[in-house]
Amino acid sequence: MHSALNAVEILHIVSPMRILTGLQPSGKLHIGNYFGAMEPAIRLQEQGEAYYFIANYHAMTSLHDGAELRVNTRDLAIDFLACGLDPQKAVIFRQSDVPEVNELAWILSTVCPMGLLERCHSYKDKVAKGISANHALFAYPVLMAADILLYDSNLVPVGKDQKQHLEVTRDLAVKINEALGDATLTIPEVLMQEDAAIVPGLDGQKMSKSYHNTIPLFGEEKPLRKLFMKIVSDSTPVEDPKPIENSTILALYRLFVNDAEYQQMVESFGQGGLGYGHYKQQLWEAYWSYFSPMRHRREEILADAAYVDEILRQGAAKARETASVVLERVRKACGLR
Ligand code: ADP
Ligand code: TRP
Repeated sequence: MHSALNAVEILHIVSPMRILTGLQPSGKLHIGNYFGAMEPAIRLQEQGEAYYFIANYHAMTSLHDGAELRVNTRDLAIDFLACGLDPQKAVIFRQSDVPEVNELAWILSTVCPMGLLERCHSYKDKVAKGISANHALFAYPVLMAADILLYDSNLVPVGKDQKQHLEVTRDLAVKINEALGDATLTIPEVLMQEDAAIVPGLDGQKMSKSYHNTIPLFGEEKPLRKLFMKIVSDSTPVEDPKPIENSTILALYRLFVNDAEYQQMVESFGQGGLGYGHYKQQLWEAYWSYFSPMRHRREEILADAAYVDEILRQGAAKARETASVVLERVRKACGLR
């Protein structure tokens, strides 16, 4: 496997560097998505030309309710903007606003061995879970490769679960270049999220929609606070020291506070004398204040519906312009033009 370069290393090789990633609008954004995908992407908008899109075609592999998909797609755009995506720096768009991606996916399919897709974990896992397999689920990595290759992307920040899809992308790009000429497609590098960055959910497992253990980024204060009180903790008596290792409360607290505040809670755990309810309240307050500026920004955005529409319109126009150059190159190379 090709070793991943980091953003700084790539910056020395390619300038301007094009950074691309996609997020599926498959439900409410949770803090695992935020710290694992959205926040790192937003930070990267300072490092190059960022292209971030809402993968609504991909979400259709599991969501067949049109109204829900439309709402989720828009909400994700709003959340991206509320969390600091700067449309002056980054291009944000809906995947389906550049339908040309399907043409590139078809072209990539023509060089994609069946075995490559049959080996993909995400497909095998879903089938193993009893999700009925449709062709889109099987072909998912080809569309994802097209997403990346259509924009001459240099760097793709993703979580570990997407590593194999990036390998497929690179494989397909190499195959196209071998068949049609070296300069047809740009081979992207992956920027992998570390293991340590896995955010635990309410039950201590990895936070995930599929485990129903998520803490949303935005929502009403009361029910959210209640959720924090549900974080699973052990039965250490109030007066005893609390175990530090594998503590979900500490792992989450660390995301919201500075080192000194985190150390204070660690020490307090060690001393004993306070119950978990106390720490959950402290954690809740840290979370609420951490997302407070984003919550306010979100309210402003929600009050101005035309703003989001305009950002998405501009994003689509820019993305389409870039895509058309790449697609024309590929069409010529493969004899469609
Ligand atoms: P979910 O598991 O809730 O369905 P997705 O698979 O849609 O979430 O994940 C979208 C992005 O958020 C991916 O890049 C993924 O790596 C990241 N992500 C999801 N859950 C976590 C988590 N618990 N910790 C860190 N990153 C996460
Ligand atoms: N498959 C990604 C996920 O579930 C979303 C995605 C679709 C994506 N196309 C992409 C991510 C292209 C990066 C690049 O998280």
